[in-house]
Amino acid sequence: MDKQLVRTCVSLPNDLLDRFDEIISERGYSSRSEAIRDAIRNYIVNYKWMTEVEGERIGIISLVYEHDQRGLTDDLTEIQHIHMGLITSSVHIHLDHDNCLEIIMLHGEGKSIKEVAEMVMALKGVKYVKLNTISPGKDFS
Ligand code: NI
Repeated sequence: MDKQLVRTCVSLPNDLLDRFDEIISERGYSSRSEAIRDAIRNYIVNYKWMTEVEGERIGIISLVYEHDQRGLTDDLTEIQHIHMGLITSSVHIHLDHDNCLEIIMLHGEGKSIKEVAEMVMALKGVKYVKLNTISPGKDFS
């Protein structure tokens, strides 16, 4: 039985939609709707995977953000100071005129590492966040 489809409306920056359309055309999607459905499924899978992060972990948070966004660099600094017990180091790379790449390395309870990643994700002006984690003594032994 077909699932009932619901129509929704989203506002997106032009260039974001252009880049999305380029990728879905390269990948041979029959429609933009199908590609957006897949993107949302990926988002949900990634979120579920993140909720399962627990126990002792080494975490690597990679984020790309617009450094011009008002208050963002202050917020990022504050989050890192609040969680300085978890953070072992960080690297900042100026990507281009507008964007910065930051890589934050953490060691501690997986749930706390995930919370830091989620706080960063929720900030306006943050364009990309990826969390990778490793269980020390388990994943590679
Ligand atoms: Ni920078």
